[in-house]
Amino acid sequence: MSYQNTDNNSHRDELLERINSRRARFGVVGLGYVGLPLAVGFAETGMRVTGIELDPEKVRMINRGENFIGDVDPDLLARLVAEKRLDATDSFDVLDEIDVIIICVPTPLNKTGDPDISAIVSVRNRIREHLHAPQLIVLESTTYPGSVSELILPYLSETGLKIGEDFFLAFSPERIDPNNPTYQVVNTPKVVGGVTSACTQTAVAAYGQLVKRVVPVSSPATAEMVKLLENTFRSINIGLANEVAIMCRILGLDVWEVIEAAATKPFGFMPFYPGPGLGGHCIPVDPSYLSWKLRALKYRTRFIELATEINSTMPEYVLRLAMTALNDEKKALKGSKVLLLGVAYKRDIDDLRESPALDVLRLLDDMEADIAYHDPHVPKINHGSSVYESVELTPTLLSDQDIVIIITDHTAIDYNEVCRHARLVLDTRNATRNVISPAARIVKL
Ligand SMILES: NC(=O)c1ccc[n+]([C@@H]2O[C@H](COP(=O)([O-])OP(=O)(O)OC[C@H]3O[C@@H](n4cnc5c(N)ncnc54)[C@H](O)[C@@H]3O)[C@@H](O)[C@H]2O)c1
Repeated sequence: MSYQNTDNNSHRDELLERINSRRARFGVVGLGYVGLPLAVGFAETGMRVTGIELDPEKVRMINRGENFIGDVDPDLLARLVAEKRLDATDSFDVLDEIDVIIICVPTPLNKTGDPDISAIVSVRNRIREHLHAPQLIVLESTTYPGSVSELILPYLSETGLKIGEDFFLAFSPERIDPNNPTYQVVNTPKVVGGVTSACTQTAVAAYGQLVKRVVPVSSPATAEMVKLLENTFRSINIGLANEVAIMCRILGLDVWEVIEAAATKPFGFMPFYPGPGLGGHCIPVDPSYLSWKLRALKYRTRFIELATEINSTMPEYVLRLAMTALNDEKKALKGSKVLLLGVAYKRDIDDLRESPALDVLRLLDDMEADIAYHDPHVPKINHGSSVYESVELTPTLLSDQDIVIIITDHTAIDYNEVCRHARLVLDTRNATRNVISPAARIVKL
């Protein structure tokens, strides 16, 4: 489907004028890991920003000037709220006054592993009630190619308002990497694909106020596919690294040494590392959006399926390594004291979503191991009907364990101390690479 842009486009020009003079009002729907940093970023540029959020506690916290996301500067947030440049509400009525709406709601998988786009649909319905000219709507939630034009555009067009003339619609994938010290919202290039050229133009203008480099592409579906390519690329390469780890064990080689040496090649190789499985809201989930869409079009995404299979069985592989390591000491996993070290899905963050630690925990629980965990960033885990609390990492605790399994290599943990007091350490992240004369036996993935 192609759309014509008209030369005489007064609503576009009005919106561009508001954006460029920073008089535009922004609404960010969903104040999570993606939405809050974005809302704070736009408010810092001088725009007036309102977060629209279902969780009443998050709304209250923002309006009190309190932060709840690690990547956000709490002093900056408090200042923006005090200066009335940032606020939050649970009511969509505010959209009547909003010029630019950015949607950052969750897009998980449902129980059968298919895309759950119910939050996008619900927000779309609320936007439709308040759609007016001129208004720009940008979807940032990761979704399958075609979502904007199939799922959002027809419903908004039913209002009688014209796309590219009265309202403007685009997709812009979020690339935030939680806790990345180098790349944040401002210096991570932003890809933008609008339904019409006026849609792209207004979306580029909006992001251009905040982000140093905006990369326009020809359509929302292209932008949707860009995001899925990026994360599928990671999932497949991590899957390869995991399989290489399995191969190296069979061959009696140290996979970490192999990857580090290969990474000295200055061209044509990019290192990816094995681990206990994939975690987070994106890498384990996004490729499934792509394979689901292609399945509907009768195409099997074989690379994605294979990588998903390898990555999702890594927790079982970790369990097997733990059983073998204990077996060498004439111990069964049943009744053994097991300490999981680090449970967040990646280093130095507090996010447990899809963390492979949860799978390892479940498998250990099934084997009736005596489980404890320590994570400086995650005080508590609700796991089924059980609640685990992070235990203090002391020499006594470590020496009391039959095995310590490093799942997440947080920098706050002193691995020399761990290996001085523990008896047996299973290291799934090469966290112990710099440990000097360990007392513990160390088994690496
Ligand atoms: N977290 C990341 O690192 C990351 C990176 C890139 C892309 N993404 C994508 O961005 C999107 C958001 O992810 P996130 O990590 O910020 O999720 P999140 O769960 O941290 O935040 C989503 C927020 O939306 C709110 N919400 C849910 N339904 C709502 C509704 N109908 N109306 C208003 N608010 C609603 C939730 O209460 C929550 O506060 C997802 O599509 C995700 O795949 C996330």
